[in-house]
Amino acid sequence: MLHLAQPTDERWFDRIEPHLDVILVDHTHLEKRAASTALSLIFKYTGREGLPAVLSEIVQEEMEHFSQMLELLEDQHIEFRKIEPAPYAKSLVSRIRSNEPERLLDTLLVAGLIEARSCERFKILAERVEDPALADYYGQLFESEARHYTIYTDLARRYYPGDEVAARLDELAAHEVDALKAAGDTPRLHSW
Ligand SMILES: [Fe+2]
Ligand SMILES: [Fe+2]
Repeated sequence: MLHLAQPTDERWFDRIEPHLDVILVDHTHLEKRAASTALSLIFKYTGREGLPAVLSEIVQEEMEHFSQMLELLEDQHIEFRKIEPAPYAKSLVSRIRSNEPERLLDTLLVAGLIEARSCERFKILAERVEDPALADYYGQLFESEARHYTIYTDLARRYYPGDEVAARLDELAAHEVDALKAAGDTPRLHSW
């Protein structure tokens, strides 16, 4: 359903568990970035039928997640600080073709893949973190990020032929796995 070329490595959680505080800070930044991505698409593609309305829902939900994450950090006495992002998103964005109409297609699919991977990782966190409140929260997030994946890929299918979307999604999904691996040993929500 999420169209990921490869599932998360089974040892990922063991690798990040000792750094769960860093993962929570990284995740907080990612919610902010997800809102920013959706908002910038609204600015850039205002005239695209349906796009501003559905993406405004994403902007609001991601900002809500951001606020919830800030509260969660405060409850856990973790400082919201700047950290070096994983090279993941930058690597994926580098695959976006620069000319239209390809540019919008790639942008929607890259945004969808990032949502899909986050969704998959939230499920792992929901199943494996010890803190029951945190596990419950990740269970809720899993559902909304799955919906965001669907919104982005549905928009792509609305504007482009289905076979073109499917072929490009396969290519970008293959690269998405390489982009995860690029984080090396640094523990992040989007590390390997
Ligand atoms: Fe989110
Ligand atoms: Fe999302």
